[in-house]
Amino acid sequence: MRATTLGDKSMAADKGKKHQDTRLVHGGSHPELFDGAVNPPIFRVSTVVSANVDEMRERSKHPPGKLAYGRAGTPTHWALQEAIADLEGYKHCLALPSGLSGILISILGLCGSGDHILVADNVYGPIRLVCCDRLAAWGLDAELFDASIGAGVADLIKPNTKMIIVESPGSLTFDMTDIPAVSAVAHEHGILVVADNTWATPLLIDSPALGIDISVHSGTKYIGGHSDVAVGTLSLDDDDLHQKLKWTALLFGYGLSPDDAYLALRGLRTLSVRLQRHEENARIVAEWLERRPEIDRVLCPGLPSDPGHAIWSRDFTGMNGLFGFIFKSMITQDATDRFVNALEVFLRGFSWGGYESLVMANSVDSIKRPVSGWTPAGPSIRLHVGLENPEDLIADLQQALAAMPDAVAAE
Ligand SMILES: Cc1ncc(COP(=O)(O)O)c(C=O)c1O
Repeated sequence: MRATTLGDKSMAADKGKKHQDTRLVHGGSHPELFDGAVNPPIFRVSTVVSANVDEMRERSKHPPGKLAYGRAGTPTHWALQEAIADLEGYKHCLALPSGLSGILISILGLCGSGDHILVADNVYGPIRLVCCDRLAAWGLDAELFDASIGAGVADLIKPNTKMIIVESPGSLTFDMTDIPAVSAVAHEHGILVVADNTWATPLLIDSPALGIDISVHSGTKYIGGHSDVAVGTLSLDDDDLHQKLKWTALLFGYGLSPDDAYLALRGLRTLSVRLQRHEENARIVAEWLERRPEIDRVLCPGLPSDPGHAIWSRDFTGMNGLFGFIFKSMITQDATDRFVNALEVFLRGFSWGGYESLVMANSVDSIKRPVSGWTPAGPSIRLHVGLENPEDLIADLQQALAAMPDAVAAE
């Protein structure tokens, strides 16, 4: 089979020197292996056969670039992995069936019974839920911490602390964590830093430079970009940890379908231009919302008014279409629901990162921060600003705000 050298990182070495947009287009692409096809084919395979016993034994060791079993990865997966690792600046990437599994595999593959892990209190809700409700059954002690304490995390470290999990900006609150400060403390103690970098995508953050040991993405969002795929990735430098995580994913049955690997790679090619448009549109909408009398605060670290703006400017090279806002306290939940129901261009939906604009009304329980105690002044909304014309988005928000009787009181 001619695709056997795909997955060998030495092939990407030259590409790493080119600009990010160029690497985005060409990363993981090997037309020379597929008779000139610019995209890698979708390898739909479970069973792999060998010519003899020696070859079977060789395959069972899962050497890079050699098929063993469909769930263990195919050239379609290796192309995606090579492209993401190269973009992020890590040696290895593992493609997984969801972003959530990227965090879980990191925890379960590298931590064991008796270990303590610190989890920022602004991470994606289901991660918090798993950490607080499920990990104890595995003998793991997971402790939430205030995501804003930066180097103050030092006071929480115990002799058995193995891992710190962060997400910046945080889910729903969009508050920033000083990741380099957390990483410096973690590394003094030999602790691994795992970051959910989904918001940043591989393009808006230099994850290794911030001291992140394992960078996780839900590719379901901007990488896929078309709301039609579930995919996750984790990237890292360390060879041993990579092997452990690879085997954990394999043994736990976390296999990404080759079709989804293909769709993620296809989405990746246009990530840069899409993100630019998402950012342009989101800035227009967010700045408009900031001027509205019904709104207490826009939660968007890319805006100069946001308390996280200084950290965002230092650590990120751009923003995307996802941000939140909080209504003034006199706006009731009922009026907020009316606003959400009145929207026509913004669709009511979970998730984000696709081409379309979405709106979600946050429940108080999902947005309040368990450790820092932060609670929004009024009802809160998350918007994903898509690729539509921003004038239509603003007109939609305007007519939906007009549907709120309390809005008149706020004027
Ligand atoms: C920040 C963040 N991380 C992870 C996930 C989980 O993604 P997936 O559905 O790919 O597991 C989400 C989903 O909304 C998310 O918002």
